[in-house]
Amino acid sequence: MIHFFFEGNSLEASEGQTLAAALLANHERVTRFTRGKSKPRGVFCGIGACFDCLVIVDGESNQRSCLVEICDGMQVRIQDGA
Ligand code: FES
Repeated sequence: MIHFFFEGNSLEASEGQTLAAALLANHERVTRFTRGKSKPRGVFCGIGACFDCLVIVDGESNQRSCLVEICDGMQVRIQDGA
């Protein structure tokens, strides 16, 4: 098991998981809020096509969580808008 941080909270994941899988396994469903109306979005397609799972990873925005492999100590934040 490894640990990562989501919105400052320490969560567990299995090595080799995608970030999206790790978030779902920890019952985290919201990864971003839309521009304008701030509607919540989360993992939808799971294959990198819909861009609903965007998050901020280690300070870098617009990362598709379904394509990012989880790393020990990774800092993940919800993305608000673009
Ligand atoms: S869930 Fe669709 S791009 Fe990640």
